[in-house]
Amino acid sequence: MTAPDSWVPFRQHPQLSLYLLAIMTFSFLIHLRSRFLTTRQSLPSLNTTKGSPATERGMWTVNSAGRLGNQMGEYATLYALAKMNGRQAYILPEMHQQLAPLFRITLPVLSSDMVQNIPWKDYELHDWMSEEYRHIEGKYVRLTGYPCSWTFYHHLRQEILQEFSFHDHVKEEANRYLAGLRGQRRNVTYVGVHVRRGDYVWVMPQVWKGVVADKAYLEKAMGYFRAKYQEPVFVVTSNGMEWCRENIDASRGDVYFSGDGKESSPGRDFALLAHCNHTIMTIGTFGIWAGYLAGGETIYLANYTLPDSPFLKIFKAAAAFLPQWIGIDADLSPLQSGATS
Ligand SMILES: *[C@@H]1O[C@H](CO)[C@@H](O)[C@H](O)[C@H]1NC(C)=O
Ligand SMILES: *[C@@H]1O[C@H](CO)[C@@H](O)[C@H](O)[C@H]1NC(C)=O
Ligand SMILES: *[C@@H]1O[C@H](CO)[C@@H](O)[C@H](O)[C@H]1NC(C)=O
Ligand SMILES: *[C@@H]1O[C@H](CO)[C@@H](O)[C@H](O)[C@H]1NC(C)=O
Repeated sequence: MTAPDSWVPFRQHPQLSLYLLAIMTFSFLIHLRSRFLTTRQSLPSLNTTKGSPATERGMWTVNSAGRLGNQMGEYATLYALAKMNGRQAYILPEMHQQLAPLFRITLPVLSSDMVQNIPWKDYELHDWMSEEYRHIEGKYVRLTGYPCSWTFYHHLRQEILQEFSFHDHVKEEANRYLAGLRGQRRNVTYVGVHVRRGDYVWVMPQVWKGVVADKAYLEKAMGYFRAKYQEPVFVVTSNGMEWCRENIDASRGDVYFSGDGKESSPGRDFALLAHCNHTIMTIGTFGIWAGYLAGGETIYLANYTLPDSPFLKIFKAAAAFLPQWIGIDADLSPLQSGATS
């Protein structure tokens, strides 16, 4: 789905001990500062009880790969696995840059010097929880891969939702926009619709023997909500808004093409989806997270590759979609007939 990660291999530096000293000082300062914070902190919750200084808990991190949905999956997986293994999690500056403008995340951030000079042990993850992940050895571990599966972190759901709670101004903007769509409706139900297109339109058929969502899938999914709720409002976002305007029937007056389609700044679209009551996603981690945060009913595109797709070696549907989410099978006939769009 995404290119394999490309980490520059660790280079051993003679100044390593110096850096470790710097880290200890850093941790100590954090500890000092956190002692003076009374509210629930924005600083790391280093547990510095006597006999277990922060450095003994080690430092774990995760690669900062892909865009928003991938970053969220990596963050949540690091959060959960570090906790399971009794280690302190830290994030890379690049991840902080992508997530902090949107969310009130609390994991501490590594400096780029620390990133370069700590002797990280890379640990590659697949995209579902495994028993061996409860016992990962190493004080300085860098998790790698594109993990985005509830099987890692759903037992910590409340904490994860807290980490991904939006800043007030983001929340207010999304709510203001949604309130503006209400019109004369008295009992509105917002359904966020995320239509993943962009590179997937050719990557799915060419690389993964799969398809992206088509018009019929979206029509079925919207039909489900129209039948169930009195006054549904569909809030459509996509990185292919033009395709959406041409393929989603808006004649009932309940469809709003709301996405700005800016792939480089997905925050606004994401916040809109997450503030809706329910979700229609197609494929991809962006939609998965929108559904997870919205917390209502989620409809997803199911079985969207041929059975012999290499995609199924790295992706397990049961680990990607919550059991209560509703799958609608994709129409694979375009693959069989050889057409690719
Ligand atoms: C810190 O450690 C103490 C004593 O071991 C324990 O009671 C407490 O729950 C820990 N706090 C956190 C945040 O892990
Ligand atoms: C609002 O709509 C929901 C279903 O969409 C329905 O269950 C509920 O009774 C409605 N409430 C009112 C006050 O009409
Ligand atoms: C639906 O979403 C709106 C906007 O976030 C929210 O104000 C409302 O309380 C939600 N309704 C339900 C029934 O959760
Ligand atoms: C997808 O395919 C699997 C395996 O063939 C099947 O069990 C399932 O019912 C299909 N549909 C959904 C929505 O999961």
